[in-house]
Amino acid sequence: MSLAPQELENSASKFAAEAIKLDSQGARGMAISSYQRAIESLTKLIHLYPENKLNRVYQERVAAYQNRIKALQMTNVDVEPVVDTKATPEEQKQSLAKNDLDSLIMKEKPNVSWDEVIGLDDAKNALRESIVYPAKRPDLFPLGWPRGMLLYGPPGCGKTVLAAATASEIEGYFINVDAASMMSKWLGEAEKNVAKLFGMARGLAEKEGLPVILFVDEVDSLLGNRNSEVGGEIRVKNQFLTEMDGINGKGKDLKLYVIGATNKPWSLDWPFLRRFTKRIYVSLPTLEARTNLFDLYTAPLRKDEKVKSTELSKLADGYSASDIKDICQSAQLMVVNDLFRSPEFNEPVEGEGKPQPRIITMNDFKEIITRRKPSVSMEMIRAYYKWSDQFKAL
Ligand SMILES: Nc1ncnc2c1ncn2[C@@H]1O[C@H](COP(=O)(O)OP(=O)(O)OP(=O)(O)O)[C@@H](O)[C@H]1O
Ligand SMILES: [Mg+2]
Repeated sequence: MSLAPQELENSASKFAAEAIKLDSQGARGMAISSYQRAIESLTKLIHLYPENKLNRVYQERVAAYQNRIKALQMTNVDVEPVVDTKATPEEQKQSLAKNDLDSLIMKEKPNVSWDEVIGLDDAKNALRESIVYPAKRPDLFPLGWPRGMLLYGPPGCGKTVLAAATASEIEGYFINVDAASMMSKWLGEAEKNVAKLFGMARGLAEKEGLPVILFVDEVDSLLGNRNSEVGGEIRVKNQFLTEMDGINGKGKDLKLYVIGATNKPWSLDWPFLRRFTKRIYVSLPTLEARTNLFDLYTAPLRKDEKVKSTELSKLADGYSASDIKDICQSAQLMVVNDLFRSPEFNEPVEGEGKPQPRIITMNDFKEIITRRKPSVSMEMIRAYYKWSDQFKAL
């Protein structure tokens, strides 16, 4: 149970590599059992970490291995060799599941409006100036416009929603990819994935002349400290820098923008930062923003009239936007919990007369806020300020 995701992933990878090798040698029985162990590790990984962004990739692998097992179990039938034995180990590994990178990329246009992003006026303005205006009136920007934007700051303050809102403001494409997952060894060589990703973005921008926003979440993970092979990260980073230069230079007329997001700006080096000409701090919500957040998230709740967002906002100093959302969710959960446990709930009533939870009081909120500490420490905030002093660029 206590296996870390990394260990489980490693063991799944080991079994899979073993299976593919045995399979290519024609050792059906042994290959099957190795495939099965790979499937077990992957399934465990999915169950233990349901939020993992790589789960879609794992699921595809599981399905591919299951199919392979079925083929191998059909005795008396010649099964095609699983891989081209002359291919490199990397190619062999990838041959069982194609299009892995594609399953990580989200191309749907998000449905978030500017108004739904509370506060963060500086960040909104910077994105408007750099992306929305040039996208709408390129003729007004004879000197070009910035292509690389870095959103940095504590978790849960709106980096992802800001990028999404920018994208929905303009007529165009939004490509959303998570760099940490892209570095996974399950997806083959990361630098090739980086090239493929930019190629796809450029292709879209060229073909239709529409703006394309490439949103790279957790962009710091491209610089490494992960488990990949020695030198791998440097190649990935260099590939990324080359691609960024391509957009900043040759691709001047392309409406292609790269928005990177990170919680750890200090782990980015100068060559990397230099390509992001706008560096925008996405901060904890101010007193006013917190009031608006409470307004937003308590609006659908049945609450006592003494519940005031301005009061809640004062109590929630230091909390992130997503903490505030959690607090409101917990308040609702609390009264629903009470309802489910009450004796009246067990008397069946149909339709209109369904029992309703009691209304949420100020005390409920106070209790939740005392029990729940902010997810961002003051120390972290100081670290962001310090970094901003040096590197912020609006
Ligand atoms: N400024 C905001 N206005 C409204 N809702 C917000 C805001 N910031 C965050 N939220 C809420 O919190 C959730 C998490 O926000 P988001 O994913 O944008 O955070 P993030 O800064 O990208 O965090 P991370 O660094 O963990 O990726 C969002 O789904 C949204 O509901
Ligand atoms: Mg995010």
